[in-house]
Amino acid sequence: MNSTFSAKNGLGGELVPPPDKSLTHRALLLSSIAEGRTLIHNPLDTGDCRSTRRCLEELGVVLKESRKSGERLMEVSGAGLMGYREPAGVLDAENSGTTIRLLAGLLAGLPIYTVISGDRSLVARPMGRIIEPLRQMGACIAGRSNGRFAPLTFLPGEGLLTARSFNLEIPSAQVKSALLLAALKCSGTTVISGRIESRDHTERLFQYLELPLVREKEYLKLEPCSEIPPFEITIPGDISSAAFFITGALISGKDLLIRHCGINPTRLGFLKVIRKMGAEAHILEVDVNCGEPVGTIQIRPGELKGVVIRESEIPDLIDEIPLIAVIALFARGSTTVQGAGELRYKESDRLEAIARLVRAVGAELTLDQDGFTIEGGQALASGIIDAGHDHRIAMAGAILSSGVRDKIVVRGIEAAEVSFPDFISSFRALGGEVE
Ligand code: S3P
Repeated sequence: MNSTFSAKNGLGGELVPPPDKSLTHRALLLSSIAEGRTLIHNPLDTGDCRSTRRCLEELGVVLKESRKSGERLMEVSGAGLMGYREPAGVLDAENSGTTIRLLAGLLAGLPIYTVISGDRSLVARPMGRIIEPLRQMGACIAGRSNGRFAPLTFLPGEGLLTARSFNLEIPSAQVKSALLLAALKCSGTTVISGRIESRDHTERLFQYLELPLVREKEYLKLEPCSEIPPFEITIPGDISSAAFFITGALISGKDLLIRHCGINPTRLGFLKVIRKMGAEAHILEVDVNCGEPVGTIQIRPGELKGVVIRESEIPDLIDEIPLIAVIALFARGSTTVQGAGELRYKESDRLEAIARLVRAVGAELTLDQDGFTIEGGQALASGIIDAGHDHRIAMAGAILSSGVRDKIVVRGIEAAEVSFPDFISSFRALGGEVE
């Protein structure tokens, strides 16, 4: 679907972002193995989270959805740690990397036979990073190219998995979480060290549920666990979704107030960078729910200047890098992103997609294997941006229209449905037009 976006008067005002995708996945998955009934208030209802829900239903978990005074509520009757039922068909994670990787941790070692796969993008994404360590724990898993790609097949396990020590080389929350979930079913103590600095929603939920997790700066240590208690959680807004309209406000010189947003410190890298670029971002914590801080973010635009973003800063803003590219086009001087090679393994090769997005509006960039440099202040024109089935590229393209002050056509805007179902209505509500 082609849609034309324009925002001649900029994008600003007030936004309540859609519920957090990472946290919704984790709430669904953990509640599915809990003993009893969990209540999830305000879960995200989009393509990716529906994939998790459908897989769990295939595994025999009962999920009931209702609406109470306009708010969605999901009631999950957990199957227990070892209680999934063998599904008759292939589980379909569709476009969702979080579904397939985190669920792999839960399926490893169970006494059932399961096959999980996904769409064209997902079967091309690397799975060896989870399959290798899960095999080391004793899980019997097959997959294309010796387990490097989905479809993945989990053969029935006998007894508990074996605890191991892992040293993560990639700062991936999906890998870390898959290992933590598998470690619940181990016979001994699992230790995870190395690049563990990625988003920590799984660790926070484990701690909130008083699971036997020790968290130190250098390592995570998890003792075996026989029972997960049910819980009640309210999912806050997704700061990665809010980041699109923060970008729109900054490049069009508008103020933006964001309410009921998750402000987990491992997700605040984008706000830190835009402050360095010259914007104001005030955060006010108003609540903590299940260990997750929730608050209000006040954005005020400023004169933007280029920055260098180094590898150590990437994990905290991994999903926001396409937006850094957009902001860089409107900053004084050059912006360089380094050490972001992981972007090549997202829903698309996001570094190539960023290059296409920048070029679509008549600008240039220097692209290398793990980053890019963009000179601000180049002449920009209206253009056609192909989302390439990547939700974050689709929305970054639409937002660019508020800075270009001209029409931008996005081919495939429906990809936004993966994480931000009301993107078009929010775009209109904040002052833009969509045809
Ligand atoms: C996610 C982790 C990140 C992120 C993705 C969601 C998660 O992926 O890009 O959108 O919920 O754990 P990696 O862990 O592969 O970096």
